[in-house]
Amino acid sequence: MWLIQTKINYLYNLKEMKVTVVGAGNVGATCANVLAHNEIANEIVLLDIKEGTAEGKALDIWQTAPVNLYDSRIIGSTNDYTMTADSEVVVITSGLPRKPGMSRDDLIATNAGIVKSVTENIVKYSPNDKIIIVSNPLDVMCYTAYLAAKVNKNHVMGMAGVLDTARYRAFLATELNVSPKDIQALLMGGHGDTMVPLPRYTTVGGIPVTELIEKSKLDEIIERTKFGGGEIVKLLGTSAWYAPGAAAAQMVEAIVRDQKRVLPVCAWLEGEYGLNDIYLGVPVILGKNGIERIIEVDLNADEKQLLVDSAAAVKTVMDVLDEMKVF
Ligand code: NAI
Ligand code: 2OP
Repeated sequence: MWLIQTKINYLYNLKEMKVTVVGAGNVGATCANVLAHNEIANEIVLLDIKEGTAEGKALDIWQTAPVNLYDSRIIGSTNDYTMTADSEVVVITSGLPRKPGMSRDDLIATNAGIVKSVTENIVKYSPNDKIIIVSNPLDVMCYTAYLAAKVNKNHVMGMAGVLDTARYRAFLATELNVSPKDIQALLMGGHGDTMVPLPRYTTVGGIPVTELIEKSKLDEIIERTKFGGGEIVKLLGTSAWYAPGAAAAQMVEAIVRDQKRVLPVCAWLEGEYGLNDIYLGVPVILGKNGIERIIEVDLNADEKQLLVDSAAAVKTVMDVLDEMKVF
């Protein structure tokens, strides 16, 4: 009886659940498609500034429902934020992507203005939502959204670690010829070349990865992971979207289903890992209240140094934002 009631409550909650995705480009549309296909929310609003884009993509996605057999409703909007009202979670993907030769940091001038105005509009209609930033440069766009939203720090976070660990796990799965499902990994730091994959916290079916792979090969995979975004930009002329869209949807699911997932998330640090007033990737528990806890794992001296170096790189870009006087 208790189980049936729990299931009814769960379905009822999902029925009420609205999720908005801002930016109906490559990442936003992919994320919305995964949310709908997996029935992660009952109502999905896709919003873009470009006339007709969100409506067109939402209609196309909705027309997969009879084929893929799901009920979630998806609607598009050209910049009408009233349609996003009372969203439980908002994913912000609006902004320019990288082109070959650009770093994520090169995007700051354009994307800071976009993320600021989008966030202000979003919180006007959904003051209690949880905001997941995807736009680059990721860590500093989280900072921008946090300054613009003026809400609880645990409600503003960024997607990067889920994607970066997915890349790391995928490379390991190929190398070891095992299922990616059985690879657990932790990666910390900024979403850039200074990210910190942690072999000591990487296991394959519970076995430390260091027992299964040569150090030189593992080092190669770590380097490939750090530049995993750039590898795709070089191949495609723009940045990735399937894995980023799926990764953002996984974070949405953890929140709307209150799953208490332990995931690497870009979070505002206030003393954790000895770092203050900075957005950086760390392991967190993600549930209905957003970031419910930041987990502080033990780092050795080398790992700590890598994290401090990564934080310094993010701080440099934060300073650029501060100098731009966007706020
Ligand atoms: P895209 O160019 O395909 O889509 C961006 C969309 O944002 C466009 O449809 C554009 O019209 C829209 N947009 C621009 N200004 C807007 C505004 N003020 N309001 C609403 N919509 C607006 O780009 P893509 O590939 O989807 O990438 C989006 C962002 O995500 C980029 O900044 C990219 O660097 C970043 N990204 C971050 C990743 C991460 O791991 N955090 C991974 C992949 C991409
Ligand atoms: C990525 O890692 C460019 O941030 C984007 O694919």
